[in-house]
Amino acid sequence: MKVLVTGGTGFIGANVVRHLLARGDEVACLVRDSSPRLCLEGLDVTLVTASLSDPEALKRALDGVEAVYHLAGVFDPSPRGRALMQAVHVDGTRALCDAALAAGVRRLLLCSSSVTVGFGPRHDPGDEETPFRDLDEIYGSDGPLRWYHDTKRAAEALVCGYIPRGLETVIVCPDYIIGAWDIKPTSGALVLTMCKRFVPVYPRGGKCFQDADDCAAGHLLAVDRGAPGRRYLLGNENHAYREFMDIIARVTGQRPPVLPLPRAAAELAGFAGAVGSRVDPHRFAGLDRYVLRSMAQARYRSGARAIRELGVPQTPLEVSVEKAVRWFRDHGYV
Ligand SMILES: NC(=O)c1ccc[n+]([C@@H]2O[C@H](COP(=O)([O-])OP(=O)(O)OC[C@H]3O[C@@H](n4cnc5c(N)ncnc54)[C@H](OP(=O)(O)O)[C@@H]3O)[C@@H](O)[C@H]2O)c1
Repeated sequence: MKVLVTGGTGFIGANVVRHLLARGDEVACLVRDSSPRLCLEGLDVTLVTASLSDPEALKRALDGVEAVYHLAGVFDPSPRGRALMQAVHVDGTRALCDAALAAGVRRLLLCSSSVTVGFGPRHDPGDEETPFRDLDEIYGSDGPLRWYHDTKRAAEALVCGYIPRGLETVIVCPDYIIGAWDIKPTSGALVLTMCKRFVPVYPRGGKCFQDADDCAAGHLLAVDRGAPGRRYLLGNENHAYREFMDIIARVTGQRPPVLPLPRAAAELAGFAGAVGSRVDPHRFAGLDRYVLRSMAQARYRSGARAIRELGVPQTPLEVSVEKAVRWFRDHGYV
């Protein structure tokens, strides 16, 4: 099958591309001039340099393509993040869907995010149907997490609108993904930091983790077996950050964290970020109050639907951390 992948130069995309090649698909990747090529080096893929805002180039790239894996995405907490996330997640997705429809593509998978899925405590984790109680309280009324949520949610609604027109769209919502090829690094940042040094404190919250290979498998299974318009949360094990960091410590030989990050310290950092970003919005962008708060809260979710309906594999988190650590070491990050 001939497929097109966006976001193939990034962490999850690199894993998806490898799974597609392993089963014999003919893979083309949409890349930018500026895209790092490390994740695709030595692979039998066709690189198509085109922008998500160039409808003609997209149409050409989609010639003969049966399925699109649309993973291109960005989380940018700086002031330009709002426009960027809107351009990539919403405008880019719309342009890609229009071009896919015109080119007669059968299926398009949107890689959204667990940020659009409600959460719960460990004994009652959220799933694809769990509503948010108060979005302003969880992500803020205006700020990077809110922009990320709103543009990802808009993209989900947008792709569903193409189903009656003949393009079968399916949505996956990855949670906290760990594994090889995290070149930026995104979700592997904590693993990488702990490879390098002792981190004494741990955030009080928790998340749902999944292996990057399982996440990639989930993308392929969603295209093969997913129901059009359905959302599939991609996540496996729920862990407190403390447990996650204990696993990283075991794998890296580092000392585990000893102290919970005091709530007041997180709030103070958020306050400092808010004040600092008035002076230098780019420098203090990472210290967003709601990003810090999200780490202090138990935000558990269940990937049971994808496991049950699609057959997504369930690799233990310790194995995923081992893969991430090995990859960082092999590629000179440590
Ligand atoms: N990592 C996670 O735990 C996680 C969790 C939930 C959802 N996700 C979603 O998964 C997808 C992949 O994320 P990732 O973790 O693999 O991140 P990543 O390593 O940062 O990769 C992002 C990919 O998107 C591409 N991209 C960014 N802006 C673009 C633009 N304006 N035009 C075209 N392509 C653009 C990047 O291309 P360049 O190489 O050219 O920059 C890269 O290939 C994203 O949609 C993200 O929201 C990730």
